[in-house]
Amino acid sequence: MTSGVDIQTEVEIAVNEIRKQWQPTPTVAVILGTGLGAFVDGLNIDLVIPYSNLPGFCASTAIGHAGELVCGRVGETPILVLCGRTHSYEGVPLERMTFPVKVLKQLGVSTLLVSCAAGGLSPSFQAGEFMVIDDHIDFLLQLKSPLTSYSRSFTSTPYDEELNELICNIGREQNIPLNSGTYVSVTGPNYETRAEMRFYRRMADAIGMSTVPEVTLARQLGMRVCGLATITNLCNPDALAIADGEDVAKVASQTEPNFRRLVLELIRRISNVGQAPACLP
Ligand code: HPA
Repeated sequence: MTSGVDIQTEVEIAVNEIRKQWQPTPTVAVILGTGLGAFVDGLNIDLVIPYSNLPGFCASTAIGHAGELVCGRVGETPILVLCGRTHSYEGVPLERMTFPVKVLKQLGVSTLLVSCAAGGLSPSFQAGEFMVIDDHIDFLLQLKSPLTSYSRSFTSTPYDEELNELICNIGREQNIPLNSGTYVSVTGPNYETRAEMRFYRRMADAIGMSTVPEVTLARQLGMRVCGLATITNLCNPDALAIADGEDVAKVASQTEPNFRRLVLELIRRISNVGQAPACLP
């Protein structure tokens, strides 16, 4: 972290640092959730920069989050992959948690794919399946908004309908079952009690401890956003199972081959989809 400079200056310092080492202009970026780190093995990797070498980036203390920026290509398309994110339960301020999104924007990224591990609230979900996030509920109640200006906030859902449709089509073509639904973000790091499971089941299909801050800021910055949750455990109040971070990371890593197939194909097709819907003035 660079002390004594404002956040915009810090963003510029990080952007210059990345540009010094890697010159392509990436239009697509991926944020990898818990246990999905092997995704980068499917890329042509040009460069790996540890977050510790990037001013303003925070390394995560959470299981399954490497803390590296991977610069590479899918075919000819340059992409950036954030391997690891921080969470509110790590005590990281919101502005720091969402800092990498500002850097991505400044580097030219216009489409962001955000992934996460999540508990399945919907009774029809199975562990190991995916859920395309079609909307979210922000229950990170103790946090202030990552938006610094309310005059340009989006309305409706922040998730891009065309990208969601595209990924659902890819899932069908590749025989990878995809659910769609609402994601609720909570602070954690504790998993839910039985009563909380009952409560959250009334409002959402999957629950996790991330995603919403980055998505909110990315939309504010005018990016198109697609969110994919890996259902790593089931939150069934009538058949309680103890969730634990190691198991969550293990199940997520087992889904990674299918995650990779979906996301690489999405990136290949992305150039055929139009521009991001503009933020409201
Ligand atoms: N609850 C909250 N966050 C999670 C869960 C869960 O059950 N599984 C993975 N992330």
